[in-house]
Amino acid sequence: MNRRTPDAPLFQDLLAQRLSRRQLLEAGIAIAPLAVTGSALLSAPAALAKHAALGFKPIRGSKADAVILPPGYSYDVLIRWGESLSSSTSSLDAAKLNDGVLLGPKAAEQQRMQFGQNCDAIHFFPFDSNADRGVLCVNNEYTDDALMFPGHPGLRGMADGSSRAYMKAHPQAVSVAKAAQGVSLVEIRRARGRWEFVQGSKFNRRITADTPIDIGGPARGSALLRTKADPDGVRVFGTMSNCAGGETPWGTYLTAEENIQDYFANLEQLKARADVDPFIIESHRRFRMWKAQSLYNWDVADPRFDLATTPTEPFRFGWIVEIDPHDPARTPIKRTALGRFAHEGASPVIAQNGRVAVYMGDDDKFEYVYKFISTARFDADNRAANRNLLDQGTLHVARFDASGKGQWLPLVFDPKGPLNAAAGFRDQADVLIKARMAAYLLGATPMDRPEDVEANPTTGRIYIACTRNDSRTVAPGTVTYGGRAIDSGPDAANPRGANAFGHIIEIREAGDDHTALEFSWEVFLLAGNPAEGRLITDLHEVKTGSAYYAGYGNADRLSPIGSPDNIGFDNAGNLWLVTDGTQPNGDNDGCWVCPTTGPNRGRLQQFMSGPVGAEICGCQFSPDNQTLFLSVQHPGEGGSTADHRSHWPDGTGKAPRASVIAIRKDDGGVIGS
Ligand code: FEO
Ligand code: CA
Ligand code: CA
Repeated sequence: MNRRTPDAPLFQDLLAQRLSRRQLLEAGIAIAPLAVTGSALLSAPAALAKHAALGFKPIRGSKADAVILPPGYSYDVLIRWGESLSSSTSSLDAAKLNDGVLLGPKAAEQQRMQFGQNCDAIHFFPFDSNADRGVLCVNNEYTDDALMFPGHPGLRGMADGSSRAYMKAHPQAVSVAKAAQGVSLVEIRRARGRWEFVQGSKFNRRITADTPIDIGGPARGSALLRTKADPDGVRVFGTMSNCAGGETPWGTYLTAEENIQDYFANLEQLKARADVDPFIIESHRRFRMWKAQSLYNWDVADPRFDLATTPTEPFRFGWIVEIDPHDPARTPIKRTALGRFAHEGASPVIAQNGRVAVYMGDDDKFEYVYKFISTARFDADNRAANRNLLDQGTLHVARFDASGKGQWLPLVFDPKGPLNAAAGFRDQADVLIKARMAAYLLGATPMDRPEDVEANPTTGRIYIACTRNDSRTVAPGTVTYGGRAIDSGPDAANPRGANAFGHIIEIREAGDDHTALEFSWEVFLLAGNPAEGRLITDLHEVKTGSAYYAGYGNADRLSPIGSPDNIGFDNAGNLWLVTDGTQPNGDNDGCWVCPTTGPNRGRLQQFMSGPVGAEICGCQFSPDNQTLFLSVQHPGEGGSTADHRSHWPDGTGKAPRASVIAIRKDDGGVIGS
């Protein structure tokens, strides 16, 4: 059936407008009580909504080793991997990478105060209403060891064990890698339209794979979270694989622990141990932990990452972590009520009733989409009262029915329900720790790698980026993935077999209420090349290779896209997308935008193309929308310290360095206008 619902009117749920609400708060404009509906508040943020029209000249896809923008736009490199956040620590000398500068005696200690590698999510927390100063929170997802350490074979060295041998010979590289990922918090300021980071700011902070982090919520103290180093199961050392993120209405940052399985080795050895609860082994299998050597081989220097030595350590990762950018002394907290899986990101929205809904994707093939609903209500007048709002509430998982309706199914321990002792759950902590297994038992819909899930601030509709799934079969069938059997053929919400380019789902909550447990949904976009007769405007006609752009029918006015990953919205509610992976014409990753309402709904245009080998992440606007911050992650991927496949950002002869860029319009106007 054709699910297109053209141009539904805005429902003006202004309480769902995270950004404008925050700006009102910061401007000192009182907006309690929460029961006030949109019309009473319309006048204040009206200025933010006047930039609906997109007016830039779209660029063409490119294979060039450069950041390419439309005419009239420029960018500045805001911060590079290795630049020091402290005035007392030197920055990385990237010209010496091939000489082994990161294997030196002080490298790990220095990296702990330098901007991390492979930047991902970006969120901006302004200090005041003029928003020219604030803290930028940036994830540093993982390390590309071949671009850091001379002679490291990179992932190619897995097959013959040479990457493992390298880490054994250079165990100090593990300390550097642990210090180079996690989160970087950096004060930035704007002067004469240009942003710069403030070296030595008291707000600058690194959170690494060794930083103490508290555990909050129902799984705090659970037997599964206890280790010899933390016998009470209340404090973890570190966060890692920090992918996308989110910001809460009370001004804290959420960082998402994603591909944690790639750090843990030796599942086969663990299986051989008779004293280990089989359910622990089953959980690790479900999370696709490595049978022998892991991707990163940290276990050669830190036994926490050897499953045979510390079987419960993986349960301490795979969470959403809350960080207060305004209070550098505050310990981050893992919010276990939001469940444990390969968290792509976490997007909070204040519902009409004041509760906080957090939308989340689990980025793996055939994984699920989740929504947490807080028990308590957001208090706009008392920031401290919101501090532990994410510790109590109910996690739900989405089932998408072929009718175009859907359900949010609660993941709640219940001796009489499906999530009980017979199914392997002793309590609610078990349900949250093994959220994937619980979601499977509830009949949630396995999706084509759900990445960012975000609410449009002007309409309240939710958008889910599914990046791709080459294991989705063309015909009905069954595959075993993550230790369970899956109906692998196309379904209504994942309608193309061999999904090479990904798609986007649009959700409308029942009654436009973010705490509703029912919703309607439709396919918003099937990524791929709209040329060569592939563009369809009726989803009845979908087949492998089809492209669908929300029913927009003019292929000549569309930019092809593949592998949508992170989502952003400008103040006008336009949907911005950045990509990770294959593009239909083999071009580099980049940034695209389309309206979600009006006659140009679904008309996607390319705004930016990134350098060779890089994925583009982040997608954060300054509050006035005059700056777009993007992360350029892993430029030069596939190369090494001796083989530069990209020279971005510093030019010929220079090593590639993942960096955050700030894009501006040369005339100082709103991005995209
Ligand atoms: Fe780390 Fe799902 O991208
Ligand atoms: Ca991502
Ligand atoms: Ca990604």
